[in-house]
Amino acid sequence: MIAVASGKGGVGKSTTALNLALGLRDLGLRVGLLDADIYGPSVPRLTGIREKPQLNDDKKMIPIVRFGLAIMSIGFLVEEDTAIDLARADGDVGHHPDAAGCRVGNP
Ligand SMILES: Nc1ncnc2c1ncn2[C@@H]1O[C@H](COP(=O)(O)OP(=O)(O)OP(=O)(O)O)[C@@H](O)[C@H]1O
Ligand SMILES: [Mg+2]
Repeated sequence: MIAVASGKGGVGKSTTALNLALGLRDLGLRVGLLDADIYGPSVPRLTGIREKPQLNDDKKMIPIVRFGLAIMSIGFLVEEDTAIDLARADGDVGHHPDAAGCRVGNP
């Protein structure tokens, strides 16, 4: 797992992470990209993905496959420019209709 992080905003983390993932894909590796930014997830904008992840029978979210990458972003669950309110401990994940109590998992 490669973590791309910084103590400062707007320095290119998301851009780096996506390009790193695409580069590793080009090397023939099987690559997943997890955008765990809960304050301003930008992977939906960077990738153009607007759909919400489907849930499997175990209520695990299935990453969206695009550009040969398995992609998951907090931004798939909330509206753009909306931060997740962690004080809402009722298990309701953003605006996803079925995501209560679900976890990210493989298909
Ligand atoms: N190598 C680069 N050279 C110039 N501009 C860049 C570079 N990488 C990213 N940018 C631009 O900088 C801005 C911020 O990039 P990005 O969203 O990837 O940063 P971030 O660290 O993920 O930001 P945030 O903290 O908001 O999540 C974007 O407009 C992006 O196009
Ligand atoms: Mg970012």
